[in-house]
Amino acid sequence: MLAWRDRGSRRLGVGCVMMTVAWVAVCGSAGEGAGVGGQDEARLTWSKASGLHALMYAYTAYCTEAQVTAWSCRYCGHHGTESFIPMYIIANATHNSFGFVGYERETGTAIVSFRGTVMTSLKNWISDLVSAEMVPLPGTGVYVGEGFLHAWLSVRAQVHIAVRSVMDTHSPQRILVTGHSLGAALATLAVLDIKAAVGNVPVNVITFGDPRVGDASFAKHYVRTLGTDSTIRVTWKHDLVPHLPPEALGFVHVPTEVWGHVPEGSRNVNYTVCDGSGEDPYCSDSVAFPASVFDHLHYMGIYENGCIDVSGGSTSGSSGTSSSSTSGGADGEIVGGGRGRVPVVDRRSEMW
Ligand SMILES: *[C@@H]1O[C@H](CO)[C@@H](O)[C@H](O)[C@H]1NC(C)=O
Ligand SMILES: *[C@@H]1O[C@H](CO)[C@@H](O)[C@H](O)[C@H]1NC(C)=O
Repeated sequence: MLAWRDRGSRRLGVGCVMMTVAWVAVCGSAGEGAGVGGQDEARLTWSKASGLHALMYAYTAYCTEAQVTAWSCRYCGHHGTESFIPMYIIANATHNSFGFVGYERETGTAIVSFRGTVMTSLKNWISDLVSAEMVPLPGTGVYVGEGFLHAWLSVRAQVHIAVRSVMDTHSPQRILVTGHSLGAALATLAVLDIKAAVGNVPVNVITFGDPRVGDASFAKHYVRTLGTDSTIRVTWKHDLVPHLPPEALGFVHVPTEVWGHVPEGSRNVNYTVCDGSGEDPYCSDSVAFPASVFDHLHYMGIYENGCIDVSGGSTSGSSGTSSSSTSGGADGEIVGGGRGRVPVVDRRSEMW
């Protein structure tokens, strides 16, 4: 029973066709005809609502398999995620990789979400980013961070099977790939494969606190595959992770950044839609000392630690569930028909 993670992606529920054939054999040619035509419909326009919607999926990837499967946790079922049907758990225990794939019935959207580094390992992970090494992305001449690549390769085969299955089962109108932190890096790598595999189905990416995944040739390869307007890379205030690995090591961000910050003299968060370069000097790159881990863990004002069981069981000992409304100045109040009490922003979190 305990070994399930190493047996590959686990199918959830009923009615999904389990694929036993190799991805390449089934899907290898599907991407050939995928032109920019299909991707035109993938244009993403930033809105706070679409950001919060994706953030709920990015954060729920930190939850347990049981919580995702039951779609029962603090952030499950909020901001438009009520009709989500979990289909696959993606996990590789050897690499501590985790994610899930499913279908949002109300909007006909397939969801692919990746977990980032868990809180207890975050400090080490961030330290490692400072001196990240690059390796070639297989099948291309471009370079990506070694750690990101290994994490992605550890779940790649499972993601392929799961995405193929959700395509076959639900014929989604759109695919949304998301993740926070390391999960954002995984989303950035995964979407290249996913785009190649799903042909003309529009693919969108919304990430939170993405580190720089690869070099300039990778960023170019990314834009060639997805354009600049189907990806939103949300950065938040003074979050330090988007500043790593350093540009000095050759790392460059993919576009398009949307920087949530409170402009000087203002009390409200402004979401600045940045230029198509990936490194807009007027966005998070403009911060002189971007060193906040707190901001990394509070995208859109919402604390990442949302894996609290709200299925009716006791939540005693959990932080942040005591007050009844969002504290002032937070941007991401939780609204919508979640199955549980309305969670609130936790502003008391410690850094580590
Ligand atoms: C876990 O990752 C390793 C290394 O990438 C890979 O060889 C192995 O097949 C993966 N396991 C599963 C279940 O995907
Ligand atoms: C606020 O965001 C808008 C939209 O991206 C941008 O045009 C504007 O410059 C931003 N204002 C400030 C003060 O950052």
